[in-house]
Amino acid sequence: MKNLMVTGGCGFIGGNFIRYVLTETGFSGRIINVDKLTYAGNPESLDDVAKQFPGRYVFEQVDICDAKEIDRVFNEYGIDAVAHFAAESHVDRSITAPGEFIQTNLIGTYTLLEAARARLESFELFHHVSTDEVFGSLGETGAFTEHTPYQPNSPYSASKAGSDHLVRAYHETFKLPTTMSNCSNNYGPYHFPEKLIPLVLLNAKEGKPLPVYGDGMQVRDWLYVRDHAVAIWTVMQKGGRGETYNVGGRCEMPNLRVVEMICDLLDEMVGPLAGHTSRRELITFVKDRPGHDRRYAIDCSKIQKELSWEPEETFATSLRKTIQWYLDNPEWVKHVRSGEYQNWVKTNYGNRN
Ligand code: NAD
Ligand code: TYD
Repeated sequence: MKNLMVTGGCGFIGGNFIRYVLTETGFSGRIINVDKLTYAGNPESLDDVAKQFPGRYVFEQVDICDAKEIDRVFNEYGIDAVAHFAAESHVDRSITAPGEFIQTNLIGTYTLLEAARARLESFELFHHVSTDEVFGSLGETGAFTEHTPYQPNSPYSASKAGSDHLVRAYHETFKLPTTMSNCSNNYGPYHFPEKLIPLVLLNAKEGKPLPVYGDGMQVRDWLYVRDHAVAIWTVMQKGGRGETYNVGGRCEMPNLRVVEMICDLLDEMVGPLAGHTSRRELITFVKDRPGHDRRYAIDCSKIQKELSWEPEETFATSLRKTIQWYLDNPEWVKHVRSGEYQNWVKTNYGNRN
């Protein structure tokens, strides 16, 4: 693996993955970050990496649905492996406008698979990054294994499920070397503030209402983003071709508890808000999300036993680290909220595009 295409590298998890691979793994090849730069992609997040690894980190503003452009990038850089993160990723957006989800998550994945298939002799690995949401919702007990039947409930999870099936089919039918990971909810630096943790922590910092859907007792299994990056790299290095691995933090928490923890940590870290004894007073119960999955939990014993991967972080310590990161990076927050990073794109890439 010398020329690794990472799709969606300007997003939350893809960006953290690129940072991890280049700075911590000893990988000596080149990473080509292919990202369309939707509202969720911010190339500024990797500014320091671009400076630290000139020539070994390359950014290409390309839509993964554009077969001609994907073919050009494969040829220009001699792509021999893909780590595929690019996706429309927010469940709420998929409820209001599913079209882009079908386009990017299904057609985009298909376009990349076709480009890899056209180079079957020299192509080494297609790693597909997926979610536990493809399995649907759990009752009070149990956890998703790699054998749990797919039962997606939102347009987002249905589009991810379809892309998983395509990857599986390209391995079975065309012998494309693939690996896949289905991971639980991530949190950490560079998370776009539309998702629960960054949204709540920024609103709580600013004294705005903290929207909790329904009764707030929906359960998610939280994993720190660097642990996810390590899991993906481990699967890419050591995972069986054609295999899938579930990845999770063994950290089940009801949403309301997560929100309360953020409130308490912020009160301690920056002091209480004027006029409030606790930021918990900002919690506002709002209308539930339609089709809202009640509980997710991951059984990650396969990746633990077969590949010796373990999450390193605990929720309490890395939630504190995450809050500190947002406190330390107000400019990043300002730019993604206002879309101001688009100016950065014009300045840095204006001549190319
Ligand atoms: P994100 O929304 O933060 O980033 C997605 C990135 O993909 C953005 O940079 C965006 O510009 C890019 N993109 C979107 N459409 C594109 C297109 N057509 N062509 C090229 N680039 C495009 O998402 P994320 O949270 O980093 O998630 C990354 C992957 O991990 C997704 O596949 C998601 O399904 C999966 N996943 C996410 C979580 C989570 O908790 N966030 C958990 C498990 C799996
Ligand atoms: P989210 O971060 O959107 O991730 P996902 O839907 O992929 O799990 O939401 C996490 C949980 O938090 C989910 O149960 C929905 C809930 N939620 C709220 O209660 N309030 C909010 O404002 C948001 C964005 C999410």
